[in-house]
Amino acid sequence: MRILPSIRSIANAIVAIPICLTIGAANSRAEQHPASGLTARSHLGMVVSVSKPASEIGRTTLDAGGNAVDAAIATAFALAVTWPEAGNIGGGGFMLIHPGNSEPPIVIDYREIAPAAASVDMFAKGIGSQYRLVGIPGTVRGLKLAHEQFGRLAWKDLVEPAAALARDGFQISAELAISLNQVIETSPDNKELRRVYGQENGKRMWKADDRLVQIELANTLALIASEGADAFYTGKVADAFEAEMKSGGGLITKADLVGYQAKIRTPIHGTYRGFDIFASPPPSSGGTAVVEMLNIVEPFKLRQEGRWSAKTIHFMLESMRLAYYDRARWLGDPDFTKIPGQLTTKEYAAELASSISLTNATSSAKLGAEILSPEEPPNTTHFSVIDRDGMAVANTYTLEDSWGSRIVVRGAGFVLNNEMGDFNPRPGITNSKGLIGTKPNQIVAGKRMLSSMTPVVVSKNGHVTLVTGSPGGRTIINTVFCILMNVLEFEMPLRDAVDAPRFHHAWMPDTVTMESALLENRKTQIDLLSKMGHHISHTPKRQGDAHSISVNLQTGERTGAADRRRDGWASSQ
Ligand code: DON
Repeated sequence: MRILPSIRSIANAIVAIPICLTIGAANSRAEQHPASGLTARSHLGMVVSVSKPASEIGRTTLDAGGNAVDAAIATAFALAVTWPEAGNIGGGGFMLIHPGNSEPPIVIDYREIAPAAASVDMFAKGIGSQYRLVGIPGTVRGLKLAHEQFGRLAWKDLVEPAAALARDGFQISAELAISLNQVIETSPDNKELRRVYGQENGKRMWKADDRLVQIELANTLALIASEGADAFYTGKVADAFEAEMKSGGGLITKADLVGYQAKIRTPIHGTYRGFDIFASPPPSSGGTAVVEMLNIVEPFKLRQEGRWSAKTIHFMLESMRLAYYDRARWLGDPDFTKIPGQLTTKEYAAELASSISLTNATSSAKLGAEILSPEEPPNTTHFSVIDRDGMAVANTYTLEDSWGSRIVVRGAGFVLNNEMGDFNPRPGITNSKGLIGTKPNQIVAGKRMLSSMTPVVVSKNGHVTLVTGSPGGRTIINTVFCILMNVLEFEMPLRDAVDAPRFHHAWMPDTVTMESALLENRKTQIDLLSKMGHHISHTPKRQGDAHSISVNLQTGERTGAADRRRDGWASSQ
């Protein structure tokens, strides 16, 4: 484990301020806070997330003297309350921390783990019940590990604001009302979910500005606040978790919970036009794939072709295809799988780039027909934080599906993930619908399932200039790639870079999906791409939800851009 004496001594020297007392006042202040909204500008700290109350709790943490990691922890706990379809304590994710100086960035890997009773062919004959899809959650120990490394304020002051929000309730947004109504409507037999998240057990529909109160979640969070992360893994909460598992044929035991450990990992590092790119390492595929793609396109000088030229889109699509092929071949939990070091080198990218035709799309099947990947649904959440000193956090975490397994732990009030679905379910069996049977991501007890989550921080000479990431299952990596290209190659302002339409290709299936604005406004280019052999179709709904921050390295001004595709709020100091 990395020791950071300088940061620890700062932490010890600072008297923690009870920030929970200031939240109410902060909420009313935020109403008039001129620099906050869909877009925020400031020379100080900011938090950008999918949920206004969660961003506000993060910003209030900064106001109370917290650093970016403190604000990220407070925001993550708050999102478990205010964005329960993906914000969580029952799931897992990746937090990339860039100290904003010469110290090396790190990643906190709090990905879920397969329980001791899991086995390679446990899904070979089908899933069985949702209970079997639950991985051992990592969020609470992950946030605790981040706090041990970098935290400045007291742990309890970072958890209590979320507990208070759950206990007192908050006014829901229109987006959250839609999400609640959808999950309730489509879970007619899930009594606990309907009791906890329904109005009158689901008899009445939610609408914007209704108040959501979550007493049992408040109690769980209060325990975590007062007793620390172990309250989740060893105490009453763990008892309730184990009982819930037993009731539905789940595999996770209390011993699994006690044994969960978050890990500190070295981020994937790449460069692009003199910028340093830091991103999530395996067991996420995100950092490896995005750096591989950037390396492939860098020599083509796409700036002079224009952002929306067929040539630019073609090269980006070809690099996606190549990187996703490698993703499927090589990537898995590095504690169980040997991953080739060359994937993120410029030399390897040059070799791959030389295979790209200027005029024709490569056939994905010719590249490799033997492996395909499991589906990953589009529900996760990403938030970005920077503090006044330039330390930044990119955090992406998930329950896997929207609302995860939809199992609410009785008496403890939180939703469980269904992340085991990210493993390759049937060893050796592949098909054109996207099943994969290759070894690197097969199920083993104690192993982490492969992820696509791609929290990224870009810096120059140690100074942070971009913080981004997104939900979207396998599309995540391409959403982040599009944003990185928009900012680093095409020098778009962050607002435009986040708004710009996105596209996705994942090697298999051999199809390009594009957001409407691109399909409708660039018909000439789309025709050309089709003639080159790209199979283009429409993105179902939208691609990603990338709440991002940029820093102008000349002026020091920060811009926060919430992604308008769903909800979102940038709160700045
Ligand atoms: O870890 C992963 O890549 C997926 N389980 C994330 C799921 C996801 O992104 C759904 N997203 N929006």
